[in-house]
Amino acid sequence: MQFGRTTLSKFVIEQARLQNSELGALLIDVAAAVKTISAMVGKGALGGNLGALDSTNVQGEVQKKLDVLTNEAILRHCEWGGQLAGMASEEMDEPYAIPNEYPRGRYLLVFDPLDGSSNSDVNVSVGTIFSIFARPTAGDAQPGDYLRPGCEQLAAGYAIYGPSTMMVLTLGNGTHGFTLDRENGNFILTHPDIRVPEETTEFAINSSNERFWEPPVQRYVSECKAGKTGVRATDFNMRWIASMVAEVHRILIRGGIFMYPKDSKDPSKPGRLRLLYEANPMAMLIEQAGGAASTGRQRILDVQPEALHQRVPVILGSKNEVERLERYHRDYDNGSDRPFVSPLFAERSLFRDESHA
Ligand code: F6P
Repeated sequence: MQFGRTTLSKFVIEQARLQNSELGALLIDVAAAVKTISAMVGKGALGGNLGALDSTNVQGEVQKKLDVLTNEAILRHCEWGGQLAGMASEEMDEPYAIPNEYPRGRYLLVFDPLDGSSNSDVNVSVGTIFSIFARPTAGDAQPGDYLRPGCEQLAAGYAIYGPSTMMVLTLGNGTHGFTLDRENGNFILTHPDIRVPEETTEFAINSSNERFWEPPVQRYVSECKAGKTGVRATDFNMRWIASMVAEVHRILIRGGIFMYPKDSKDPSKPGRLRLLYEANPMAMLIEQAGGAASTGRQRILDVQPEALHQRVPVILGSKNEVERLERYHRDYDNGSDRPFVSPLFAERSLFRDESHA
């Protein structure tokens, strides 16, 4: 028994008090939903909830049974408390209105209930990602209320369902990690004030998309792969779990860079990941931990959303690497990238199509 340790409830109540906000109660409801989801996901095949449904979500992606169940878990845990003006989720085409029997508050909760859900069938870590904003006044949220840039988030976080379940969150005052003690059901502060190392030699990207990337990303990855023999003069390691939560968690703990950059695979999509409930909360967590998060051309938290399910290119993690990638994008855009071309790629044309000149 570890008396006196900081529970998540104690932490968020104290933080919210410091900020003179009512966020604490909402975050405690989110944590309750996370515990329900952790138990559900942890049952694996015994829960009878693995596998896909016949339906697709608004993104056109096949929904897993767990996508729908975990979405319900968050709605039920968070709708009643009187803190919320509305909710929006990856799994719902339109925002969710708070039922009439419950009071309304001024906060907006936006979430991806089970990120990386295809990994649940193969028993690999998955997670829940959430972001909290406020309207100026209490009342029913209007669709436009959700379209606020990430820099206006009041709190953000994720839960990771791995060998242990953790919640990592920020209320704009550092990034803090809590581990679920499965014996007594408490989240305990185990990782206060997480800091992302500025330097790293580990990168994460789905390299099967390489031919669709823009030249600055091709250049960066080719330089990492060239290792000691290339311009970086150091060997890099690559990881790809295909579960953003697991990727970001690794980066928060030991550094690294994660990229789901712009690509030309499907020209109608400017990126793979969703701005409001994937990129923004992760960007806030990473920045609060001393890292950086960018589209390659703009700070993610400054992107003005135009649609609820909008996608965005994502490059986040150790500051120096994110800044390097931003520089490569700038060099490419203004045509000055020639001096930095990797010796592995002798021809400038590999990094620059003439239509862009
Ligand atoms: O939908 C988001 C997501 O599952 C992320 O968690 C993950 O980083 C990415 O998609 C995986 O994409 P891919 O299937 O291209 O590897």
